[in-house]
Amino acid sequence: MKIQDRTFIVTGGASGLGLATVQDFHSSGGYVSIWDMNADTGAKLVDQLGSRAVFYEVDVTSTESIEAAVKKTMEWVGKTGKELAGVVAGAGVGNPAKMIDRNGDPITMDSIDFVLNINLRGTLDTVRQCVAHMAKNKPLTPDGERGVVILVSSSAAFDGQPGQVSYAASKGAVASMTLPMARDLARYGIRVVTIAPSLFESRMTAMLGEKARKSLEKVMEFPVRAGKPEEFSRMVKEGVENSMLNGTVIRLDGAMRMPSKM
Ligand SMILES: NC(=O)c1ccc[n+]([C@@H]2O[C@H](COP(=O)([O-])OP(=O)(O)OC[C@H]3O[C@@H](n4cnc5c(N)ncnc54)[C@H](O)[C@@H]3O)[C@@H](O)[C@H]2O)c1
Repeated sequence: MKIQDRTFIVTGGASGLGLATVQDFHSSGGYVSIWDMNADTGAKLVDQLGSRAVFYEVDVTSTESIEAAVKKTMEWVGKTGKELAGVVAGAGVGNPAKMIDRNGDPITMDSIDFVLNINLRGTLDTVRQCVAHMAKNKPLTPDGERGVVILVSSSAAFDGQPGQVSYAASKGAVASMTLPMARDLARYGIRVVTIAPSLFESRMTAMLGEKARKSLEKVMEFPVRAGKPEEFSRMVKEGVENSMLNGTVIRLDGAMRMPSKM
């Protein structure tokens, strides 16, 4: 499915991998509805990109916040006439915490809920509200395609490290939901593709600290470096453009398998 003259929603679009995706969609002639909690960056981004981009301040843990942004996006789509053809659910957080902390206390439910609510619940809520609109599109390709869902999992879905129980649970769930979601949506011509990156340059990984980042880079197989955001967005584009990609989880990881100890 082509990107040009179609509208795409990107959550977490103000930073890192989401931001690269927004820029790539835009330079491919797409219209982008950027959703993020970071309103300042979002506003600046729209200033740079111009009339084919809008920003909405959204908290993906809130159903009402997503509803409001879907409504505004669909009003924008009504004005531009460029169908909503895809959603990239990029909003996500790490928030490492071990099962038992230094004082012998168990991981808190607040910490677990925080991660699951954004990475899992927020992803599902965003996608469920978007696909209801995409299903009403007229077919956009000769195959009868009406839309694409791109989910973002992680290497942690397969080999989570110490302190990543909540994160791995959320990203494992995102990977697991890929096939049933594709099966549910097949009758509407909506595909689902999940990308599972390893270590990529972004604000999230900048927060890891130099030492942790360097030791993660060292265990990359090849190339021995963090992935670049544009290497992620290129895979998103392929997910949109290549109609045979469906119901699959693509590891984008330079053959890296995350070790237990660093
Ligand atoms: N960078 C990596 O190495 C890496 C590896 C594997 C998976 N991922 C996943 O890729 C996605 C993007 O991560 P990134 O590395 O670009 O991080 P990032 O921190 O640069 O970007 C994440 C964005 O999500 C937004 N966000 C957070 N909570 C939100 C909420 N409740 N509602 C709306 N927006 C919210 C943030 O404001 C931020 O702009 C995440 O799902 C992350 O788990 C990243």
